[in-house]
Amino acid sequence: MINLEKCKEEFLRYVRVFEEEYEDEEEYIKIERKKLHSIRVMERCEEIAKALNLNEEQTELACLIGLLHDIGRFEQYTRNVAYLNEMLLDHAKLGVDILFKKGLIRKFIEDEKYDKIIELAIVNHNKYKIPEGLNKEELLFSKIIRDADKLDILYEGAEIFWNSKTEKENVENSKISVKIGQLFKVERPIKKVRK
Ligand SMILES: [Fe+2]
Repeated sequence: MINLEKCKEEFLRYVRVFEEEYEDEEEYIKIERKKLHSIRVMERCEEIAKALNLNEEQTELACLIGLLHDIGRFEQYTRNVAYLNEMLLDHAKLGVDILFKKGLIRKFIEDEKYDKIIELAIVNHNKYKIPEGLNKEELLFSKIIRDADKLDILYEGAEIFWNSKTEKENVENSKISVKIGQLFKVERPIKKVRK
C-alpha cells in the first residue's frame, strides 16, 4: 500500500518552500504551472493504470510516479540555468538525484522495493526513447508516465497556451478536475503573487 494522501501532503509541503521563496513573478508562475501539471499527470497515470486493469498497488505506484516525475523542475527554477535549456540541466536526472541521493523519496514511501522502478520511470520520462535492458515492470511504469506526461503537455498546448497571451494567463486558465482539486486543496495559484 502506498499512502497517496501522505504523498500529496508531502508534495505540497515540498513545493510550498519554492512558493514562499520565489525571486520574481515569472519564477512563481512557473512553479505554479508545474505544480498543477504534476497533479494532473498523477490523475492521468491513474486513468491509464485503471484502463490497463492494473491492481490497486500498481495504480498507486503509477500515481506516485506521476506526482514526482517533475520534482526536479522546482529546484531547476531556482538555479542559474535557463529553464528551457535542457542541454544545461536535465530536470529528470535532477529529480532522481533529489529523490534518491538526497533521500527525499523516503518521505513519500518508506518501502524501498519500488525504488528502481520509480527511478527508471522518472529518469527516462523526458528522453527520446526508453533505453534497452529494462524488465517488464520497469518498462510498464516508464511507458505510463511518458504517456501521461505527453497527454498533459498536449492539454496545456491545446487548451491553455494557444488561448493565452501570457504565461500568467496560461496558469490562470489552467484547470484541474474538481475531484483532484479538492484532494489537493489547490487554490487559484496566481492570486498569491506579490504585485
Ligand atoms: Fe512533466
